[in-house]
Amino acid sequence: MESAIPLPLRCPRSRPPTRGDDYSPPNPGFTARFGDALQPLTVVFLGAQFRSPEGEALARAAVGLWCDLAEHAPDHHDIAQGTDEAGFSTLVWTGYWRDAARFEQWRQGLAFGAWWNSEHRLDEACGWFMEVASPAPQRLETLYSSPDGFEGFGRLASHMSAEIREHGYWGSMRDRLPASQTEALTEVLTATPASRVPRPNRRARVAFSAADHLALIRSGQDWSRTAGLERERYVRDVEPVLRAGMDFLDSEAGLAIGCLSNRYLRIVDKDLRPAEKSYGLSWWASLADMERWARDHATHSAIFGSFMRLVQEMNLELALRLSHEVSVLRSSEQRFEYINCHERTGLLRS
Ligand code: HEM
Repeated sequence: MESAIPLPLRCPRSRPPTRGDDYSPPNPGFTARFGDALQPLTVVFLGAQFRSPEGEALARAAVGLWCDLAEHAPDHHDIAQGTDEAGFSTLVWTGYWRDAARFEQWRQGLAFGAWWNSEHRLDEACGWFMEVASPAPQRLETLYSSPDGFEGFGRLASHMSAEIREHGYWGSMRDRLPASQTEALTEVLTATPASRVPRPNRRARVAFSAADHLALIRSGQDWSRTAGLERERYVRDVEPVLRAGMDFLDSEAGLAIGCLSNRYLRIVDKDLRPAEKSYGLSWWASLADMERWARDHATHSAIFGSFMRLVQEMNLELALRLSHEVSVLRSSEQRFEYINCHERTGLLRS
């Protein structure tokens, strides 16, 4: 058993953890390790939004292009699709870079940069968005239900940890974040005044970053290895409540409790054939808002409860893999850009 906080990032605490060193979790949990690398990692969620066959063709072509760009390419990428609250289909290509400088070269380079910045993007049957997070290692945590369950940032890892102590109780997400040893991660230091954000509309390009301490979660489910009773129970009992929770976060009521944006996405291959993997991707005004929803709200309680019933029915032997990555970002560690998108897309709705 070890701490989720990597050794080089441990420091004298000014803020106590929720549970002490003598706590022992009820089931195993693991975290991704990144070797000695202490520089920020980067993830970009690049989206195409459409509701016409013409838009779909453009979106598919763009995803193919993003996959093929070789110069300064990400160390890992995946593709996912979903439908948003306004009824638009969305394709999301997600790239993960170990080196934030290489991501910047990719973003501004002749291949992607020229395509993204072209005036043509304003005149198409697609909306486009780019949401970027470059968390310092102090502001990133990951949790996997199994040591072979790498997803997302975990695909950049040098290795998986041994079993970690900080999971299995509310507040453990915060305890896994190295920055929580000394920071409350709640105070807003440099809010961007809302008036500086141009109002979106069709045929417009909007770029901004949000306030310090914006929180991002990617929470993944992989049921590809399940069979028999476990698969039946996941599909029949767990997935519908997960979907209901995602719909809640995507609604006005979700926004009212601090969820600025939520997408429920299904991973697909390059030909857009669905895999048996999904994830919830959401941006929150603060880590505290995210904690409150997970701990207190009926929708996450229902997800949690249906999962615990599955665990008991399967006698703790699950082929289902759960993964989760959370970052808490300074204003300088985020970037949002929307082109031609409807006004409820991503952070535009807030
Ligand atoms: C089938 C889907 C899901 C299941 C079975 C599930 C189950 C769980 C479980 C068992 C924990 C405790 C983990 C631990 O510490 O060991 C947890 C924590 C958490 N979940 Fe979920 N969850 C699911 C989906 C989601 C989604 C989609 C989100 C957000 C978009 C989310 C947000 C959270 C958060 C923020 C915590 C950490 C709370 C804290 O440590 O204070 N979950 N969930």
